[in-house]
Amino acid sequence: MSIQLDDSIERFSARFSKSKKETENAKRSIPGGFSRKTFNYGPHGIFVERGEGAYIYTIEGEKLLDLNNNFTVNILGHNHPEITKALQEALPNGISFGNPSNHEVKLAETLCSRIASVEKVKFSCSASESCITAARIARAHTGKAKIAKFEGGYHGFIDDLAISAHPPHDKLSGQSDAPQSVADSGGIPQYKVDNTIILKQNDLDACEKIIRAHANEIACIFMELQSGAGGIVVLDPDFVAGIRALTKELNILLILDETITLRAHYRGMQHVYDLLPDLTIMGKMIGGGLPIGAVGGQAKFFEVLESDTVQISGTHHGHLLATVAGAKCLEVMNEAAFDRLNSLSNRIKEDLNSWAKLHSYPFMIYGAGFSFLGYAFTHDLESEITTHRDFWNLVDNDKILIYSLEMAQKGYFPVHRGQLSLSLAMTDEDIDGFIEATKEVVSAIFSE
Ligand SMILES: Cc1ncc(COP(=O)(O)O)c(C=O)c1O
Repeated sequence: MSIQLDDSIERFSARFSKSKKETENAKRSIPGGFSRKTFNYGPHGIFVERGEGAYIYTIEGEKLLDLNNNFTVNILGHNHPEITKALQEALPNGISFGNPSNHEVKLAETLCSRIASVEKVKFSCSASESCITAARIARAHTGKAKIAKFEGGYHGFIDDLAISAHPPHDKLSGQSDAPQSVADSGGIPQYKVDNTIILKQNDLDACEKIIRAHANEIACIFMELQSGAGGIVVLDPDFVAGIRALTKELNILLILDETITLRAHYRGMQHVYDLLPDLTIMGKMIGGGLPIGAVGGQAKFFEVLESDTVQISGTHHGHLLATVAGAKCLEVMNEAAFDRLNSLSNRIKEDLNSWAKLHSYPFMIYGAGFSFLGYAFTHDLESEITTHRDFWNLVDNDKILIYSLEMAQKGYFPVHRGQLSLSLAMTDEDIDGFIEATKEVVSAIFSE
């Protein structure tokens, strides 16, 4: 008999019983029990004690292959010797200063040397903050006030952008080719919602109509080449080229959010698309595990900061330790390291997809094929995900949850929302084990 969600939850909570207890305890002092909403994993979080290489160790003493890697941050895995050493060397010299440091410069120079569209970089503590920076630069540069973004695109939790990343599956969200802006959270004022225009992924005609109609108001468009937190959708290269041409023609800054997709290539995913955005958002992996965000772009876009027309300031922006760890992480992430990660990803994708096809299981691994992959249980065999709304119609979320709960009990920690993030610390054997465990769980889910 196929696995039922209630049974799966019960067995998960029994296996991670200490975490269940800790979650209840944490709820007394932290709303919901976790500072990060996304730590909720089925019925409760899994509390971690430590991480080593490709694995995490839970407070129950369980060893799990980490296929979450802090939502793509830990591209080298945990406790990487070079990052640990760099931090240990930096620590005795002081943690925090009101002065600049060479580490910040080194990280900026590395990013400028790798990413073709990036001549200068402004750091912050998170990609959300860097999105605010980018929007402010775009508004000052163009003299326009509105922001456009794609339905299903996540660019952090700030009011202007926490809109239609996870829109409701009902008429509030409007027609698919003219989506309405809907706040992702209570507490976001309507004027913010009205100021953000929502576009449909991979539909150039629909986008062009909206963009042209609001061309005099739109300062910038935020875009990911492969969206992440709102669901994995890969943009078609012709669509991307069309958006680039439109934004150039209409004096709209194209802000490419590479917070996750920087994983795709040594030179960023923009290199794969031969795309030169105006501004690029970076974060997650470029801090080597510590909090960071960055905006990069051509020097001319930063003149508004240099002339003090635009003010951006944060106590911990460009934090010393984050730039130490980030610079070391990028040093380790040479071209061969990106190739290795991409080959592991492609192996997972090819092996599991051909196996699912052979057995006629509506299960797939999808995405552009870099080290951040999607997995989905769909309602039929022919499903293809090309827009955010395909998740509403095609994807079976209960099965995704069952899969993630069952995989945790087999020693794998996948992202419950249908996403997998690899690390360089993973061996071929780790990947083989993951593929086999997935086959067992998926077969059990589809068994009569
Ligand atoms: C594409 C993208 N942009 C921005 C953000 C916000 O990053 P942060 O959580 O560092 O503020 C995220 C976080 O998941 C993201 O995936």
